[in-house]
Amino acid sequence: MEISQNIILVGLMGSGKTTIGRLLARRLERPFYDSDQEIEQRCGVRVRTIFDLEGEAGFRQREAATIADLLKGSGIVLATGGGAVLNPCNREQMKRHGWVVYLDVPVRVLYERTRNDQNRPLLQVADPIAKLEALRAERDPLYREVADFVLDGARHHSSNAVQRILKEWETCETSK
Ligand code: S3P
Repeated sequence: MEISQNIILVGLMGSGKTTIGRLLARRLERPFYDSDQEIEQRCGVRVRTIFDLEGEAGFRQREAATIADLLKGSGIVLATGGGAVLNPCNREQMKRHGWVVYLDVPVRVLYERTRNDQNRPLLQVADPIAKLEALRAERDPLYREVADFVLDGARHHSSNAVQRILKEWETCETSK
C-alpha cells in the first residue's frame, strides 16, 4: 500500500461515514470529500431534488462520475453514499484506488440516526425500518466485498471508531 493511498468509507445511510471520515481526515491532515456533498455542489441542488427530477438512475450516474473523479486524486479521505457499492464500476474503482472501511451498524441504530432526515429519498417511505432491513440484506455482501477492514460501528462512538480505524491503517502501513 502506498502512503498516498486513499481511505474510503462505505456503509448504509446513518452509519457515520461523513462524521468519521471528517475526523479521520483531520487526524491524518488529509483532504476530506463526501460524494453526496460533492454531487450537490456540482449540481447546485440537494440529493432529494436530483431524485425528484432524474430518478434514482440519474442520481446513480452522477454518483459514479463523481466518485471516479474524486478517486483520480490520491491521499484523500472519501465518504461515499450508501448505494455507491451497487455499481460494479464503483466497487472496482474503490478496490483499486483505496483502502476501504465498512462501517457496519445495526438497523435500529441507523433508523434512530436517520428518522428525522428529509434529504434521504429512499427512506421517505411508510416503513423505513423495513426499508433499511432490505437495503442491508442487499448491500452487506457488497460492502464486505470491497472492504479491507470492517468496523463494528455499534460498539464504537465516533472518536473511538477513528482510533480503531487509524490503528488498523497503521498496522497495514507497517506490514507493507
Ligand atoms: C443513498 C444514500 C445517501 C445518498 C442517497 C442514496 C443510498 O447517502 O447517496 O440518498 O442509496 O443508500 P448517505 O449514505 O450518505 O446517507
